Amino acid sequence: MMPGPSALASQVTAATALLLVLLLIDGCVAGTQKVGGLDAWAVPPASRPDVYLRWGKSAHVRLGDSLMFLYPPGHDDVVQVTARAAARCSVKAPLLRLADGNSVFNLTAPGRVYYTSTLPGHCRKGQRLSLDVPAANGTYLPPSADDLAALASLAKLPPAAAPTKALPTLASLDDDESGAAPPAAGASVIAVAALCFALLVYKET
Ligand SMILES: *[C@@H]1O[C@H](CO)[C@@H](O)[C@H](O)[C@H]1NC(C)=O
Ligand SMILES: *[C@@H]1O[C@H](CO)[C@@H](O)[C@H](O)[C@H]1NC(C)=O
Repeated sequence: MMPGPSALASQVTAATALLLVLLLIDGCVAGTQKVGGLDAWAVPPASRPDVYLRWGKSAHVRLGDSLMFLYPPGHDDVVQVTARAAARCSVKAPLLRLADGNSVFNLTAPGRVYYTSTLPGHCRKGQRLSLDVPAANGTYLPPSADDLAALASLAKLPPAAAPTKALPTLASLDDDESGAAPPAAGASVIAVAALCFALLVYKET
């Protein structure tokens, strides 16, 4: 006998909840961090041009962690670049490029790592990230001359004008939860991101 509509609905709800919990465990406890917290990977909104700069400074990663960059496939990409390339926003010879919209980079060596987008102008508009990966014993390597040059370059924020078509996730969460309802898939991603964020905050306090 087939379950009635309401039984089916509660099964679907339970399955969604289970999926969220699994994603949460996978995304937070196993050391995968979503880049930018609640923000998707995109040119930072004009109101927060320093979003990746701040996130890169506040995020604590460990050797063996992974970084997840989320963006609509075909609308952006992620490249890992050297310190020298990061300092000049050069994306001609990236160390690694991923463009699937759900790009996971593994932090496999201690030292500074640099990421940006190859789309024209995106790096200079602040879509660039640096993180310091500590050695397995928790100590950080001293920055090289190239690292220092790259960090100085990253700290120069883009001009805070030019409105960009950054994704509205963070703004809509900040402003008004009753705003236009996002599609269901988007809602679960936001929910997972919010739970992840809450768990990270909880772990750090
Ligand atoms: C990251 O590590 C996972 C698990 O070991 C592996 O499946 C994946 O291919 C790695 N990603 C990259 C970009 O190397
Ligand atoms: C930690 O590990 C790094 C890299 O393996 C090593 O150079 C450093 O001496 C170690 N520091 C301590 C305090 O053990």
